[in-house]
Amino acid sequence: MPQVRGSLHERSVVGEGVLTSGFTRVNGALVCEGVPLARVAEDVGTPAYVYSASVVRDRFSRLDAALAPMPHRIHYTLKANSNRGVLRILREMGAGVDVVSGGELQRALRAGFDGSDILFGGVGKSERELREALEAGVLMINVESSAEIRLVDEIARELGVIAPVGIRVNPEVTVESSHRYIKTGEKGAKFGIPFDEVREAARIAADLSHTQLLGLDMHVGSQLFRLDPYVDGTERLVELLGQIRQDGVDTLRFLDIGGGLGVSYDDEESPDLSRFARALVPRIQPTGLTLLMEPGRYIVGNCGVLLTRVLYRKHSGGREFLVTDAGMTELIRPSHYDAYHRIDTVQPSAGQMTADVVGPVCESGDFLALDREMDEAHAGDLLAVHDVGAYGYVMASNYNSRPRGAEVLVDGERFAVVTAREQYDDLIRLELDDPEWRDS
Ligand SMILES: Cc1ncc(COP(=O)(O)O)c(C=O)c1O
Repeated sequence: MPQVRGSLHERSVVGEGVLTSGFTRVNGALVCEGVPLARVAEDVGTPAYVYSASVVRDRFSRLDAALAPMPHRIHYTLKANSNRGVLRILREMGAGVDVVSGGELQRALRAGFDGSDILFGGVGKSERELREALEAGVLMINVESSAEIRLVDEIARELGVIAPVGIRVNPEVTVESSHRYIKTGEKGAKFGIPFDEVREAARIAADLSHTQLLGLDMHVGSQLFRLDPYVDGTERLVELLGQIRQDGVDTLRFLDIGGGLGVSYDDEESPDLSRFARALVPRIQPTGLTLLMEPGRYIVGNCGVLLTRVLYRKHSGGREFLVTDAGMTELIRPSHYDAYHRIDTVQPSAGQMTADVVGPVCESGDFLALDREMDEAHAGDLLAVHDVGAYGYVMASNYNSRPRGAEVLVDGERFAVVTAREQYDDLIRLELDDPEWRDS
């Protein structure tokens, strides 16, 4: 077994030249592929999320190529960015998807994915969601408790189908990640079945009449730059596989190592995929199972910017503020995960400044950047907040009754609105003018 461990940063053929961004400057102005961002803002308004289709294709192809030495499939994790514009690109590239709710399942089906392209995961799937997944004929439901296995079996019996089940294992490995909220595979996490209970869970699944145990799954965390959690976790899954096979269960077909590959938001180097593959393929190949992955951030994280306009520039208590028309409602990552996102002016700037870039929401935690050294900007200027392709729009909210912005896809010289800007009517669409009162 090759002793490939440590950081994922070392450069290699596959790691080199990663298209970190589809955004460049032409005559000083920011351009996405062949489309000036100022043009998008003029047409579509702000705030708007602008995604580069080429970056999405590039990332998918790189990962797919790296895993080519063995049977595999990349199941893009919808939760990172789930508009059907992006989903269609990935479907055309041959991706499957990983969904975690009935809503995501619907999105995937409506984007043209077949049930057999879909992995269904999540720590708290409802009975309705499990039923919908079985009715859609998903490839595998990754279950997270023995109680869930029994429920899946019961529903499958009612529907007269055999439920394809994977066990999400908590491999209980050490994970280094930028924030504790994005570690998921350490002991005591709410996710998965604890390592030493998996063998028993596999026996339960194998004994049930309407369940077939098809795989083992893990997802150890997000924004990972070290190989160790993948290597350690994979070794633990392979160890479990051996035990489960020893117990006479020989139905397994898939080893799903989850998502988590890191992306660069600041000056982090992109993961070296050939190193990643060299570490994992020799560990998984001998099992004869198909390797599945569930990347989200790696595929879309660097593909998009949030376009926002500076509404006001003001000075208060010795600090310089840029108040923008986007804030925590459009991008919650800075306040929720202490996340760093580069911010540039869209048009060339004359100088530099140190500013707090804050949104219009009535919360002190509503900021995009604090104490940021950045291009000098003034009221009316357009800013681009970089690398918002993952966990950006999907985590947007209507707090303060703010309509969500538009999502725009750029492909070469063309661009299209793939999600329209919400209108005030959308905010109250589900509220009843004349609610029906019921007696207790
Ligand atoms: C089960 C599971 N798989 C995959 C992912 C995707 O992670 P990432 O976007 O870091 O690749 C997540 C993210 O939370 C997840 O919970």
